[in-house]
Amino acid sequence: MKNCEQFSNLRAARYRMTGLARHIAGKLIDEKAGARSRRWQPDARYFCFPVQMFRLEQATMSQSPLPRLGFIGAGRLARCLALSFSRAGYPVTAVASRSATSAGQLASQIEHCAAFDDPQQAVDAADIVFLTVPDDSIGTSAHTLRFGRDAAGRPGKALVHCSGASPVELLAPARDQGASIGGFHPLYLFSGELADLDRIAGCSVTIEADGALKDTLTALALALRCHPLSIPAGGRMLYHAAAHYAASFALCSLAECVALWRTLGFAEDDALRALLPMLAGTIETARDKGLPNALAGPVSRGDTGVVEKQLALLEGLGGDHAALYGLLSRRAVGLAERRASPPAAIGAISEAVEDSLNRSLNQAAAGASVK
Ligand SMILES: NC(=O)c1ccc[n+]([C@@H]2O[C@H](COP(=O)([O-])OP(=O)(O)OC[C@H]3O[C@@H](n4cnc5c(N)ncnc54)[C@H](OP(=O)(O)O)[C@@H]3O)[C@@H](O)[C@H]2O)c1
Repeated sequence: MKNCEQFSNLRAARYRMTGLARHIAGKLIDEKAGARSRRWQPDARYFCFPVQMFRLEQATMSQSPLPRLGFIGAGRLARCLALSFSRAGYPVTAVASRSATSAGQLASQIEHCAAFDDPQQAVDAADIVFLTVPDDSIGTSAHTLRFGRDAAGRPGKALVHCSGASPVELLAPARDQGASIGGFHPLYLFSGELADLDRIAGCSVTIEADGALKDTLTALALALRCHPLSIPAGGRMLYHAAAHYAASFALCSLAECVALWRTLGFAEDDALRALLPMLAGTIETARDKGLPNALAGPVSRGDTGVVEKQLALLEGLGGDHAALYGLLSRRAVGLAERRASPPAAIGAISEAVEDSLNRSLNQAAAGASVK
């Protein structure tokens, strides 16, 4: 990573130059990097080449200095990644999928990219293969692929999946054949639409890999203008479970509000029109001030009376409304306590929340959730 940062700085300096000067400077920097071969090897240095230099050199070189990327599975995620990597100057050379139509459609949008019927052909035509199939198919797909050595006898290929929840170990059959294996999980909900291409910049990509492949995947994330995150082996399930709170569970919180407001006669559309700007503002404030200082509402103000009355009201509604409210209020108390000056009444609020939870958790366990 440090190596890659140094080269990112060199790259930034090189971008500021123009024309021949940039070309000459690039050559010098490449020499400094000790680049001996133009053929791809699993070495981070090659992935820090700027796109402009790649295109300049591509005209005069028979072999690409960048890894050839292949995709098995041409769904929502692959459409965005393959097109984005191609836009960033990486050669995306191969796509295979369950259906020839999906593979053909994606490959036809990328210059010099071939669609293959057989996933093995995508492996043979690429240096790094992204296995972008549904999670349940990752293990079975990995078992069917063969990873040979390149012309120089090096076990140079890599197999990478993009799941946040599935273990990288599912790719062990490729590792057993000498390939590098890793995880590359973009924290973004892909729709499969072109809009994804513009929105992926600024997202984070969680990378699980060792050695040179880790540097390589980091450089690929940076090429998409994403922030690389590192995750230890075995941590994916907890990491992915927790990430639901920023995506699906944020929607579930909105759904709970809509359900409660419906009892007051609000239509869902009206409710969402009212709630979404408030949510957007809360997110902006969290970005500017951090979570504890973005907290608003009765817990943050120390309004014990309001908290007690709302808990009692929700307990009276039955179902699991009070339990959900109580558990989230417990988290709100935790955030308020992290402030430099927590509200004086935070202890009393915490007691009220815990008393209510003692009653409502039993009630929630016994009763069905309200849709
Ligand atoms: N979508 C997201 O927001 C998102 C975000 C982060 C990570 N991911 C991860 O990315 C991976 C792919 O997700 P996705 O949302 O892109 O799924 P998707 O839209 O359902 O696409 C999956 C693609 O794989 C193809 N496929 C299915 N089984 C296959 C097999 N056995 N061999 C070859 N191709 C096969 C599908 O077939 P056809 O050829 O019939 O089209 C489809 O093109 C998953 O691991 C997921 O966890 C997704």
